Amino acid sequence: MTQVEDQAFVTLATNDTYCLGALVLAHSLRKVATSRKLVVLITSGVTTHMRSLLASVFDLIQEVNVMDSKDEENLALLTRPELGITFTKLNCWRLTQFTKCVFLDADTLVLHNCDELFDKKELSATADVGWPDCFNSGVFVFHPSNETYKDLVKFAVEQGSFDGGDQGLLNMFFRDWSTKDISFHLSFIYNMNSNASYTYLPAYKQFGKDVKIVHFLGSMKPWQYSYNPSTGDVQFGSECQHVKEHLQYWWHLFIQFVHPHLQPECTGLAGQLSKMSVSSDQQEEGAASPYELALGGSHARQFAWERGQIDYLGTDSFENIKQKLDNAINGSQN
Ligand SMILES: *[C@@H]1O[C@H](CO)[C@@H](O)[C@H](O)[C@H]1NC(C)=O
Ligand SMILES: *[C@@H]1O[C@H](CO)[C@@H](O)[C@H](O)[C@H]1NC(C)=O
Ligand SMILES: *[C@@H]1O[C@H](CO)[C@@H](O)[C@H](O)[C@H]1NC(C)=O
Repeated sequence: MTQVEDQAFVTLATNDTYCLGALVLAHSLRKVATSRKLVVLITSGVTTHMRSLLASVFDLIQEVNVMDSKDEENLALLTRPELGITFTKLNCWRLTQFTKCVFLDADTLVLHNCDELFDKKELSATADVGWPDCFNSGVFVFHPSNETYKDLVKFAVEQGSFDGGDQGLLNMFFRDWSTKDISFHLSFIYNMNSNASYTYLPAYKQFGKDVKIVHFLGSMKPWQYSYNPSTGDVQFGSECQHVKEHLQYWWHLFIQFVHPHLQPECTGLAGQLSKMSVSSDQQEEGAASPYELALGGSHARQFAWERGQIDYLGTDSFENIKQKLDNAINGSQN
């Protein structure tokens, strides 16, 4: 596939814990053989060791200054005070070495190649499930421009954000999104809310297999679930907020590509998870995991003999994943 040098997928990670999400997201993009560059925006809080991990999968690491909205009242409404920091996101417009970019939040995960998103224009995004006249700012197509960046900052300072985060701000700035032109509306398959209780089940049964990007919205993030290193299964417990197959796939990529390189000097969860011991057996199991996922965690081992016959990185594995998702969808909701 021809590489496109002047277009990029962009994400943001302000600390080592969120870098876990950014790393898994980047590996999910590599796995579907994207032809675009990968860029991560970071802040000063990201450790040196973590930067070296990011450098192994991203083409560009760009450090930016934290630009907090300081709009405590709005933030309190959402009981998500950490959203303030997402104003840092605006810095993505300063990546003017690229002509077009697709922003992906660090809590998204790519299941299939979605390079066709670069055919879209600024500002293209998916309707928010909570208020569909607004777009969700976890996935959007934009054109880097210093002018737009300046306008956005001015707008932010003058108007604030109605939700205290970047989504409220961007929706006011691009305020004709919902009515202007339907071609700026991205399909839900590019930003599917992986929320177990929120999902419109008959639609998920019908269209779930087409989903290309999932978004782990809500207070729990994939890296906060517990993982059983001896069985390779995510421990869902009773309060699992997300679609289990999506979480299992996130952890598969994490164990295979990220965990082996973590060091205790990483901060937050990244440092803690570096101490989790995963047997080499399990890591190898991890290597087989698109297939493991296809079969369901605990059954995978008995099929381990088949590993050599499978093209793990090719289309076969993704067919398997799709099949497994289909089975899960059709099996578990009745
Ligand atoms: C890391 O950053 C995220 C997003 O800004 C925030 O929600 C989280 O609380 C931070 N975690 C730590 C350990 O600082
Ligand atoms: C945008 O601004 C940066 C400095 O902030 C500068 O390096 C870059 O060349 C500018 N881009 C364009 C297209 O003028
Ligand atoms: C996700 O699901 C939980 C219940 O599991 C619900 O309380 C929460 O509001 C949902 N969040 C979103 C963003 O849909």
